[in-house]
Amino acid sequence: MGIKRICCIGAGYVGAPTMAVIALKCPHIDITVVDIDIEKIKKWNGPIEHLPVYEPGLSEIILKTRDKNLFFSNEIENSIDNAEMIFIAVNTPTKLSGEGAGMAADLSYVESSAKTIAKSSKSDKIVVEKSTLPVRTAEKIKEILNKNNNSVNFEVLSNPEFLAEGTAIEDLFKSDRVLIGGDKTKSGLSAVQSLVNIYKNWIPIDKILTVNVWSAELSKLASNAMLAQRISSINSLSALCKKTDADIEEVSKAIGMDKRIGTEFLKVSPGFGGSCFKKDILNLVYLCQHYDLNEIADYWKGVLTINDFQRSRIFNIVNTFIKKYNLKKEISILGWAFKKNTDDSRESSSIYVASHFLKEGYIINIYDPKVKNDQIKKDLVMLKHTSKDLNQQINFFNSLELITNTKSPLLIMTEWDEFKSLNTNKHKLRIFDFRNILNNSKLTYRF
Ligand code: UDX
Ligand code: UDX
Repeated sequence: MGIKRICCIGAGYVGAPTMAVIALKCPHIDITVVDIDIEKIKKWNGPIEHLPVYEPGLSEIILKTRDKNLFFSNEIENSIDNAEMIFIAVNTPTKLSGEGAGMAADLSYVESSAKTIAKSSKSDKIVVEKSTLPVRTAEKIKEILNKNNNSVNFEVLSNPEFLAEGTAIEDLFKSDRVLIGGDKTKSGLSAVQSLVNIYKNWIPIDKILTVNVWSAELSKLASNAMLAQRISSINSLSALCKKTDADIEEVSKAIGMDKRIGTEFLKVSPGFGGSCFKKDILNLVYLCQHYDLNEIADYWKGVLTINDFQRSRIFNIVNTFIKKYNLKKEISILGWAFKKNTDDSRESSSIYVASHFLKEGYIINIYDPKVKNDQIKKDLVMLKHTSKDLNQQINFFNSLELITNTKSPLLIMTEWDEFKSLNTNKHKLRIFDFRNILNNSKLTYRF
Protein backbone atom coordinates (compact mmCIF):
# COMPACT_ATOMS: atom_id res chain seq x y z
CA MET A 1 0.00 0.00 0.00
CA GLY A 2 1.30 3.48 -0.82
CA ILE A 3 0.90 5.56 2.33
CA LYS A 4 -0.42 9.08 1.71
CA ARG A 5 -1.22 10.29 5.22
CA ILE A 6 0.77 9.88 8.41
CA CYS A 7 -0.01 10.99 11.95
CA CYS A 8 2.66 11.12 14.66
CA ILE A 9 1.72 11.26 18.35
CA GLY A 10 4.41 13.21 20.26
CA ALA A 11 6.06 16.41 18.99
CA GLY A 12 9.27 16.05 21.03
CA TYR A 13 12.96 15.53 20.28
CA VAL A 14 12.27 12.34 18.33
CA GLY A 15 8.81 12.76 16.79
CA ALA A 16 9.21 16.25 15.33
CA PRO A 17 12.64 15.94 13.63
CA THR A 18 11.78 12.47 12.29
CA MET A 19 8.52 13.66 10.76
CA ALA A 20 10.16 16.81 9.39
CA VAL A 21 12.69 14.70 7.50
CA ILE A 22 10.03 12.28 6.18
CA ALA A 23 7.99 15.31 5.04
CA LEU A 24 11.01 16.76 3.24
CA LYS A 25 11.95 13.50 1.53
CA CYS A 26 8.39 12.44 0.73
CA PRO A 27 6.48 15.46 -0.61
CA HIS A 28 3.69 13.09 -1.70
CA ILE A 29 2.87 12.24 1.95
CA ASP A 30 0.90 14.54 4.27
CA ILE A 31 2.06 14.39 7.87
CA THR A 32 0.34 15.70 10.97
CA VAL A 33 2.22 15.77 14.26
CA VAL A 34 -0.03 15.92 17.32
CA ASP A 35 0.72 16.42 20.99
CA ILE A 36 -1.27 16.72 24.21
CA ASP A 37 0.83 19.75 25.08
CA ILE A 38 -1.09 22.65 23.54
CA GLU A 39 1.69 25.18 24.17
CA LYS A 40 4.22 22.99 22.39
CA ILE A 41 2.06 22.75 19.28
CA LYS A 42 1.60 26.54 19.34
CA LYS A 43 5.37 26.90 19.36
CA TRP A 44 5.82 24.48 16.47
CA ASN A 45 3.38 26.65 14.51
CA GLY A 46 4.94 29.90 15.72
CA PRO A 47 8.06 31.94 14.86
CA ILE A 48 10.89 29.81 13.49
CA GLU A 49 13.40 31.16 16.01
CA HIS A 50 11.31 29.87 18.96
CA LEU A 51 10.68 26.24 18.01
CA PRO A 52 10.40 24.01 21.10
CA VAL A 53 13.40 21.87 20.12
CA TYR A 54 16.84 23.16 19.15
CA GLU A 55 18.50 20.90 16.62
CA PRO A 56 21.00 22.02 13.95
CA GLY A 57 19.34 22.09 10.51
CA LEU A 58 15.82 21.51 11.83
CA SER A 59 14.39 25.00 11.44
CA GLU A 60 15.44 25.11 7.76
CA ILE A 61 13.46 21.93 7.08
CA ILE A 62 10.47 23.17 9.06
CA LEU A 63 10.48 26.34 6.95
CA LYS A 64 10.41 24.26 3.77
CA THR A 65 7.69 21.80 4.81
CA ARG A 66 5.46 23.44 7.41
CA ASP A 67 1.89 23.97 6.18
CA LYS A 68 2.81 22.33 2.86
CA ASN A 69 2.88 18.66 3.82
CA LEU A 70 3.86 18.95 7.49
CA PHE A 71 1.28 20.11 10.00
CA PHE A 72 1.28 20.50 13.79
CA SER A 73 -2.07 20.10 15.48
CA ASN A 74 -3.92 19.47 18.75
CA GLU A 75 -6.74 17.65 16.99
CA ILE A 76 -5.51 14.23 18.01
CA GLU A 77 -8.55 12.04 17.22
CA ASN A 78 -9.26 13.54 13.79
CA SER A 79 -5.64 13.43 12.76
CA ILE A 80 -5.41 9.75 13.73
CA ASP A 81 -8.51 8.78 11.82
CA ASN A 82 -7.38 10.68 8.72
CA ALA A 83 -4.07 8.81 8.61
CA GLU A 84 -3.22 5.34 7.31
CA MET A 85 -0.08 5.05 9.40
CA ILE A 86 0.36 6.30 12.99
CA PHE A 87 3.73 6.71 14.71
CA ILE A 88 3.89 6.65 18.50
CA ALA A 89 6.76 8.92 19.61
CA VAL A 90 5.72 9.80 23.15
CA ASN A 91 8.19 9.73 26.00
CA THR A 92 8.75 6.58 28.05
CA PRO A 93 10.39 7.73 31.30
CA THR A 94 11.56 5.40 34.06
CA LYS A 95 8.63 4.37 36.26
CA LEU A 96 8.42 6.36 39.50
CA SER A 97 5.99 4.13 41.40
CA GLY A 98 4.40 0.69 41.37
CA GLU A 99 5.98 -2.55 40.18
CA GLY A 100 9.46 -1.97 38.71
CA ALA A 101 9.68 1.61 40.09
CA GLY A 102 13.08 3.19 39.38
CA MET A 103 13.89 0.66 36.64
CA ALA A 104 11.09 -0.36 34.29
CA ALA A 105 9.87 2.00 31.58
CA ASP A 106 6.67 3.85 32.31
CA LEU A 107 4.46 2.81 29.42
CA SER A 108 1.39 4.75 30.47
CA TYR A 109 1.79 7.35 27.67
CA VAL A 110 2.24 4.60 25.09
CA GLU A 111 -0.77 2.76 26.45
CA SER A 112 -2.97 5.85 26.47
CA SER A 113 -1.83 6.63 22.91
CA ALA A 114 -2.87 3.10 21.89
CA LYS A 115 -6.29 3.61 23.49
CA THR A 116 -6.74 6.91 21.69
CA ILE A 117 -5.78 5.27 18.39
CA ALA A 118 -8.29 2.44 18.98
CA LYS A 119 -11.10 4.84 19.85
CA SER A 120 -10.45 7.23 16.95
CA SER A 121 -9.97 4.70 14.13
CA LYS A 122 -12.74 4.02 11.68
CA SER A 123 -10.47 2.32 9.11
CA ASP A 124 -7.49 -0.09 9.19
CA LYS A 125 -4.27 1.38 10.58
CA ILE A 126 -0.59 0.58 10.71
CA VAL A 127 0.73 1.57 14.14
CA VAL A 128 4.48 2.18 14.37
CA GLU A 129 6.38 2.18 17.67
CA LYS A 130 8.99 4.91 17.45
CA SER A 131 9.54 5.32 21.18
CA THR A 132 12.12 3.01 22.76
CA LEU A 133 10.18 0.25 24.42
CA PRO A 134 10.89 -2.91 26.37
CA VAL A 135 10.86 -6.05 24.29
CA ARG A 136 7.34 -7.48 23.80
CA THR A 137 5.55 -4.13 24.17
CA ALA A 138 4.04 -4.54 20.70
CA GLU A 139 2.02 -7.42 22.12
CA LYS A 140 0.55 -5.14 24.75
CA ILE A 141 -0.20 -2.39 22.23
CA LYS A 142 -1.98 -4.91 20.00
CA GLU A 143 -4.02 -6.15 22.94
CA ILE A 144 -5.11 -2.60 23.83
CA LEU A 145 -5.95 -1.79 20.20
CA ASN A 146 -8.01 -4.92 19.67
CA LYS A 147 -9.78 -4.74 23.03
CA ASN A 148 -10.93 -1.18 22.39
CA ASN A 149 -11.81 -1.58 18.72
CA ASN A 150 -12.64 -4.86 17.04
CA SER A 151 -14.06 -3.47 13.83
CA VAL A 152 -10.83 -2.47 12.09
CA ASN A 153 -7.48 -4.22 11.57
CA PHE A 154 -4.34 -2.96 13.28
CA GLU A 155 -0.80 -3.95 12.34
CA VAL A 156 1.89 -3.03 14.86
CA LEU A 157 5.45 -2.38 13.69
CA SER A 158 8.56 -1.52 15.66
CA ASN A 159 10.79 1.09 14.02
CA PRO A 160 13.14 2.30 16.75
CA GLU A 161 14.92 5.60 16.30
CA PHE A 162 18.71 5.72 16.28
CA LEU A 163 19.13 9.48 15.94
CA ALA A 164 21.33 11.25 18.45
CA GLU A 165 20.44 14.75 19.59
CA GLY A 166 22.62 17.48 18.16
CA THR A 167 23.07 15.47 14.95
CA ALA A 168 19.47 14.29 14.53
CA ILE A 169 18.97 15.67 11.04
CA GLU A 170 22.28 14.34 9.75
CA ASP A 171 21.51 10.95 11.35
CA LEU A 172 18.08 10.87 9.73
CA PHE A 173 19.51 11.77 6.32
CA LYS A 174 22.28 9.20 6.47
CA SER A 175 21.18 6.48 8.84
CA ASP A 176 23.62 3.59 9.39
CA ARG A 177 20.54 1.41 9.27
CA VAL A 178 16.78 1.65 9.48
CA LEU A 179 15.30 -1.15 11.51
CA ILE A 180 11.75 -2.31 10.91
CA GLY A 181 10.20 -5.12 12.91
CA GLY A 182 6.86 -6.69 12.02
CA ASP A 183 4.83 -9.88 12.12
CA LYS A 184 5.68 -12.52 9.54
CA THR A 185 1.97 -12.85 8.60
CA LYS A 186 0.69 -11.69 5.19
CA SER A 187 -0.73 -8.43 6.58
CA GLY A 188 2.35 -7.96 8.78
CA LEU A 189 4.69 -8.29 5.81
CA SER A 190 2.59 -5.88 3.77
CA ALA A 191 2.69 -3.31 6.60
CA VAL A 192 6.47 -3.66 6.80
CA GLN A 193 6.68 -3.10 3.05
CA SER A 194 4.63 0.14 3.33
CA LEU A 195 7.17 1.52 5.79
CA VAL A 196 10.12 0.29 3.72
CA ASN A 197 8.62 2.18 0.75
CA ILE A 198 8.67 5.42 2.76
CA TYR A 199 12.32 5.12 3.83
CA LYS A 200 13.32 3.92 0.35
CA ASN A 201 12.80 7.51 -0.83
CA TRP A 202 16.20 8.42 0.60
CA ILE A 203 17.79 5.43 2.38
CA PRO A 204 19.61 2.82 0.24
CA ILE A 205 17.67 -0.43 0.39
CA ASP A 206 20.62 -2.43 1.77
CA LYS A 207 20.51 -0.25 4.88
CA ILE A 208 16.88 -1.07 5.59
CA LEU A 209 16.80 -4.11 7.82
CA THR A 210 13.53 -5.96 8.31
CA VAL A 211 13.34 -8.26 11.31
CA ASN A 212 10.78 -9.66 13.72
CA VAL A 213 9.15 -7.21 16.14
CA TRP A 214 10.95 -8.53 19.21
CA SER A 215 14.39 -8.26 17.59
CA ALA A 216 13.66 -4.65 16.63
CA GLU A 217 12.54 -3.73 20.14
CA LEU A 218 15.50 -5.43 21.81
CA SER A 219 18.08 -4.14 19.30
CA LYS A 220 17.36 -0.56 20.30
CA LEU A 221 17.88 -1.25 24.02
CA ALA A 222 20.95 -3.33 23.26
CA SER A 223 22.50 -0.71 20.94
CA ASN A 224 22.17 2.01 23.55
CA ALA A 225 23.50 -0.28 26.29
CA MET A 226 26.56 -1.19 24.18
CA LEU A 227 27.27 2.48 23.38
CA ALA A 228 26.96 3.46 27.03
CA GLN A 229 29.18 0.53 27.98
CA ARG A 230 31.99 1.92 25.80
CA ILE A 231 31.77 5.27 27.57
CA SER A 232 31.84 3.66 31.01
CA SER A 233 34.78 1.52 29.89
CA ILE A 234 36.85 4.52 28.78
CA ASN A 235 35.78 6.57 31.82
CA SER A 236 36.82 3.75 34.15
CA LEU A 237 40.22 3.69 32.47
CA SER A 238 40.56 7.46 32.97
CA ALA A 239 40.69 6.87 36.73
CA LEU A 240 43.37 4.22 36.30
CA CYS A 241 45.38 6.51 33.99
CA LYS A 242 45.56 9.16 36.71
CA LYS A 243 47.04 6.63 39.13
CA THR A 244 49.60 5.29 36.67
CA ASP A 245 50.64 8.42 34.71
CA ALA A 246 49.22 7.01 31.51
CA ASP A 247 47.38 9.57 29.35
CA ILE A 248 43.75 8.63 28.64
CA GLU A 249 43.77 10.42 25.26
CA GLU A 250 46.75 8.35 24.15
CA VAL A 251 45.24 5.16 25.50
CA SER A 252 41.91 5.92 23.80
CA LYS A 253 43.66 6.57 20.49
CA ALA A 254 45.71 3.41 20.77
CA ILE A 255 42.67 1.27 21.57
CA GLY A 256 40.54 2.86 18.87
CA MET A 257 43.06 2.25 16.10
CA ASP A 258 42.33 -1.45 16.37
CA LYS A 259 39.64 -1.65 13.73
CA ARG A 260 37.86 -4.40 15.64
CA ILE A 261 37.25 -1.79 18.34
CA GLY A 262 36.98 1.45 16.31
CA THR A 263 37.42 5.08 17.31
CA GLU A 264 33.83 6.19 17.99
CA PHE A 265 32.38 6.57 21.47
CA LEU A 266 35.71 6.35 23.23
CA LYS A 267 35.83 9.96 24.37
CA VAL A 268 36.43 10.41 28.06
CA SER A 269 33.77 12.55 29.75
CA PRO A 270 32.05 13.51 32.98
CA GLY A 271 29.70 10.58 32.32
CA PHE A 272 27.01 10.02 29.73
CA GLY A 273 23.71 11.87 29.98
CA GLY A 274 20.65 12.24 27.77
CA SER A 275 17.18 10.83 27.90
CA CYS A 276 18.09 7.36 26.65
CA PHE A 277 21.16 5.61 28.00
CA LYS A 278 20.33 5.41 31.71
CA LYS A 279 16.65 4.72 31.10
CA ASP A 280 17.36 2.00 28.53
CA ILE A 281 19.99 0.26 30.66
CA LEU A 282 17.65 0.27 33.66
CA ASN A 283 15.06 -1.20 31.38
CA LEU A 284 17.44 -3.91 30.20
CA VAL A 285 18.42 -4.70 33.78
CA TYR A 286 14.76 -4.99 34.73
CA LEU A 287 14.09 -7.32 31.79
CA CYS A 288 17.02 -9.55 32.76
CA GLN A 289 15.80 -9.73 36.34
CA HIS A 290 12.32 -10.56 35.12
CA TYR A 291 13.74 -13.55 33.25
CA ASP A 292 15.83 -14.55 36.29
CA LEU A 293 19.10 -13.62 34.59
CA ASN A 294 20.49 -11.91 37.68
CA GLU A 295 24.19 -12.10 36.78
CA ILE A 296 23.44 -10.46 33.44
CA ALA A 297 21.39 -7.78 35.17
CA ASP A 298 24.34 -7.04 37.47
CA TYR A 299 26.74 -6.87 34.52
CA TRP A 300 24.73 -4.08 32.86
CA LYS A 301 24.11 -2.32 36.17
CA GLY A 302 27.91 -1.90 36.37
CA VAL A 303 27.76 0.50 33.40
CA LEU A 304 25.58 2.82 35.47
CA THR A 305 27.72 2.43 38.58
CA ILE A 306 30.78 3.69 36.69
CA ASN A 307 28.76 6.61 35.37
CA ASP A 308 27.77 7.67 38.90
CA PHE A 309 31.35 7.11 40.03
CA GLN A 310 32.69 9.48 37.36
CA ARG A 311 30.36 12.23 38.59
CA SER A 312 31.30 11.91 42.23
CA ARG A 313 34.95 11.61 41.20
CA ILE A 314 34.70 15.05 39.59
CA PHE A 315 33.30 16.51 42.79
CA ASN A 316 36.14 14.97 44.81
CA ILE A 317 38.83 16.25 42.43
CA VAL A 318 37.61 19.86 42.59
CA ASN A 319 36.67 19.81 46.27
CA THR A 320 40.13 18.51 47.21
CA PHE A 321 41.75 21.26 45.12
CA ILE A 322 39.66 23.96 46.78
CA LYS A 323 40.46 22.68 50.27
CA LYS A 324 44.14 22.31 49.47
CA TYR A 325 44.45 25.96 48.39
CA ASN A 326 41.97 27.20 50.99
CA LEU A 327 39.77 28.79 48.31
CA LYS A 328 36.24 30.16 48.61
CA LYS A 329 33.56 27.48 48.16
CA GLU A 330 32.53 28.66 44.71
CA ILE A 331 32.75 27.00 41.28
CA SER A 332 31.71 27.85 37.71
CA ILE A 333 30.04 25.24 35.55
CA LEU A 334 30.56 25.70 31.82
CA GLY A 335 27.85 23.79 30.01
CA TRP A 336 24.58 22.36 31.25
CA ALA A 337 23.38 20.44 28.16
CA PHE A 338 24.20 16.72 28.20
CA LYS A 339 26.33 17.29 25.09
CA LYS A 340 26.99 20.08 22.59
CA ASN A 341 24.52 21.35 19.99
CA THR A 342 21.39 20.62 21.96
CA ASP A 343 19.29 22.51 24.49
CA ASP A 344 18.40 19.22 26.16
CA SER A 345 19.68 18.73 29.72
CA ARG A 346 17.92 15.48 30.59
CA GLU A 347 20.20 13.35 32.79
CA SER A 348 23.11 15.71 32.13
CA SER A 349 26.17 15.06 34.30
CA SER A 350 26.18 18.80 35.13
CA ILE A 351 23.03 18.29 37.21
CA TYR A 352 24.57 15.50 39.28
CA VAL A 353 27.92 17.20 39.71
CA ALA A 354 26.21 20.48 40.70
CA SER A 355 24.09 18.70 43.24
CA HIS A 356 27.17 17.26 44.98
CA PHE A 357 28.55 20.80 45.31
CA LEU A 358 25.23 22.26 46.44
CA LYS A 359 25.00 19.67 49.21
CA GLU A 360 28.40 20.83 50.44
CA GLY A 361 27.21 24.44 50.56
CA TYR A 362 29.04 25.72 47.48
CA ILE A 363 28.00 28.75 45.42
CA ILE A 364 27.58 27.68 41.81
CA ASN A 365 27.91 29.88 38.74
CA ILE A 366 26.39 28.44 35.57
CA TYR A 367 26.59 29.26 31.87
CA ASP A 368 25.24 27.29 28.93
CA PRO A 369 24.82 28.70 25.40
CA LYS A 370 21.42 27.03 24.84
CA VAL A 371 19.79 25.66 27.99
CA LYS A 372 17.40 28.18 29.56
CA ASN A 373 17.88 29.26 33.20
CA ASP A 374 14.37 28.10 34.12
CA GLN A 375 15.21 24.62 32.88
CA ILE A 376 18.42 24.55 34.94
CA LYS A 377 16.47 25.47 38.05
CA LYS A 378 13.88 22.80 37.31
CA ASP A 379 16.62 20.20 36.90
CA LEU A 380 18.08 21.03 40.30
CA VAL A 381 14.75 21.22 42.08
CA MET A 382 13.86 17.81 40.65
CA LEU A 383 16.86 16.24 42.31
CA LYS A 384 15.83 17.94 45.59
CA HIS A 385 19.25 18.09 47.12
CA THR A 386 20.09 21.55 48.16
CA SER A 387 21.26 22.49 51.58
CA LYS A 388 20.03 26.10 51.48
CA ASP A 389 17.59 28.02 49.36
CA LEU A 390 18.55 27.25 45.77
CA ASN A 391 18.32 30.88 44.63
CA GLN A 392 20.98 31.91 47.12
CA GLN A 393 23.36 29.23 45.92
CA ILE A 394 23.23 29.61 42.14
CA ASN A 395 24.11 32.47 39.79
CA PHE A 396 23.36 32.46 36.08
CA PHE A 397 25.59 34.08 33.47
CA ASN A 398 24.76 34.74 29.86
CA SER A 399 28.20 34.72 28.32
CA LEU A 400 31.47 32.87 28.61
CA GLU A 401 33.27 36.13 29.19
CA LEU A 402 31.10 37.09 32.16
CA ILE A 403 31.38 33.74 33.90
CA THR A 404 35.17 33.67 33.54
CA ASN A 405 35.32 37.06 35.31
CA THR A 406 34.17 35.39 38.53
CA LYS A 407 37.67 34.05 39.25
CA SER A 408 36.37 30.71 40.57
CA PRO A 409 37.47 27.29 39.21
CA LEU A 410 36.02 26.69 35.73
CA LEU A 411 34.58 23.21 35.15
CA ILE A 412 34.12 22.36 31.46
CA MET A 413 31.20 19.95 31.55
CA THR A 414 29.84 20.19 27.99
CA GLU A 415 32.06 20.17 24.91
CA TRP A 416 30.51 23.31 23.35
CA ASP A 417 32.79 24.63 20.57
CA GLU A 418 32.82 28.14 22.03
CA PHE A 419 34.57 26.84 25.17
CA LYS A 420 37.56 26.03 22.99
CA SER A 421 38.16 29.79 22.82
CA LEU A 422 38.94 29.95 26.56
CA ASN A 423 42.25 31.62 27.12
CA THR A 424 44.28 28.72 28.48
CA ASN A 425 47.21 30.94 29.34
CA LYS A 426 45.16 33.40 31.34
CA HIS A 427 42.92 30.88 33.12
CA LYS A 428 45.03 27.74 33.04
CA LEU A 429 45.47 27.53 36.80
CA ARG A 430 41.77 27.12 37.37
CA ILE A 431 40.52 25.19 34.34
CA PHE A 432 39.17 21.68 34.94
CA ASP A 433 38.64 20.28 31.47
CA PHE A 434 36.39 17.26 31.97
CA ARG A 435 35.85 16.91 28.21
CA ASN A 436 39.52 17.23 27.21
CA ILE A 437 38.67 19.79 24.53
CA LEU A 438 41.50 22.23 25.22
CA ASN A 439 44.96 21.79 23.77
CA ASN A 440 46.97 22.34 26.88
CA SER A 441 48.07 19.47 29.03
CA LYS A 442 49.17 21.85 31.78
CA LEU A 443 45.67 22.83 32.88
CA THR A 444 44.77 22.41 36.52
CA TYR A 445 43.03 19.21 35.57
CA ARG A 446 42.19 17.21 32.49
CA PHE A 447 41.22 13.60 32.36
C1 UDX B 1 11.92 9.97 22.76
C2 UDX B 1 11.38 8.57 22.67
O1 UDX B 1 10.14 8.56 22.19
C3 UDX B 1 11.72 7.81 23.89
O2 UDX B 1 11.18 6.55 23.92
C4 UDX B 1 13.17 7.72 23.79
O3 UDX B 1 13.69 6.78 24.64
C5 UDX B 1 13.73 9.09 24.04
O4 UDX B 1 13.29 9.91 23.05
P1 UDX B 1 11.51 12.35 23.21
O5 UDX B 1 11.03 12.66 21.84
O6 UDX B 1 12.91 12.70 23.54
O7 UDX B 1 11.28 10.81 23.50
O8 UDX B 1 10.55 12.89 24.31
P2 UDX B 1 9.91 14.33 24.44
O9 UDX B 1 10.76 15.34 23.80
O10 UDX B 1 9.52 14.44 25.87
O11 UDX B 1 8.60 14.21 23.53
C6 UDX B 1 7.51 13.42 23.80
C7 UDX B 1 6.25 14.22 23.47
O12 UDX B 1 5.11 13.38 23.58
C8 UDX B 1 6.00 15.41 24.40
O13 UDX B 1 5.89 16.58 23.65
C9 UDX B 1 4.68 15.07 25.09
O14 UDX B 1 3.87 16.19 25.36
C10 UDX B 1 4.03 14.15 24.08
N1 UDX B 1 3.00 13.26 24.65
C11 UDX B 1 3.24 12.55 25.76
C12 UDX B 1 1.78 13.15 23.99
O15 UDX B 1 1.53 13.81 22.99
N2 UDX B 1 0.86 12.29 24.49
C13 UDX B 1 1.05 11.57 25.63
O16 UDX B 1 0.17 10.82 26.04
C14 UDX B 1 2.30 11.71 26.26
C1 UDX C 1 21.79 8.10 21.97
C2 UDX C 1 22.26 7.18 20.83
O1 UDX C 1 23.54 7.61 20.35
C3 UDX C 1 21.25 7.16 19.71
O2 UDX C 1 21.64 6.24 18.72
C4 UDX C 1 19.91 6.78 20.29
O3 UDX C 1 18.92 6.82 19.29
C5 UDX C 1 19.51 7.70 21.41
O4 UDX C 1 20.52 7.70 22.41
P1 UDX C 1 21.84 10.72 22.45
O5 UDX C 1 21.47 10.34 23.84
O6 UDX C 1 21.07 11.79 21.76
O7 UDX C 1 21.78 9.44 21.49
O8 UDX C 1 23.38 11.20 22.45
P2 UDX C 1 24.80 10.51 22.31
O9 UDX C 1 25.54 11.20 21.25
O10 UDX C 1 24.70 9.04 22.22
O11 UDX C 1 25.48 10.91 23.69
C6 UDX C 1 25.04 10.39 24.92
C7 UDX C 1 25.97 10.81 26.03
O12 UDX C 1 27.21 10.14 25.93
C8 UDX C 1 26.30 12.30 26.04
O13 UDX C 1 26.27 12.79 27.35
C9 UDX C 1 27.70 12.34 25.48
O14 UDX C 1 28.42 13.46 25.90
C10 UDX C 1 28.28 11.05 26.03
N1 UDX C 1 29.44 10.55 25.28
C11 UDX C 1 29.33 10.23 23.96
C12 UDX C 1 30.66 10.40 25.93
O15 UDX C 1 30.77 10.68 27.12
N2 UDX C 1 31.74 9.91 25.22
C13 UDX C 1 31.64 9.57 23.91
O16 UDX C 1 32.65 9.11 23.35
C14 UDX C 1 30.41 9.73 23.26
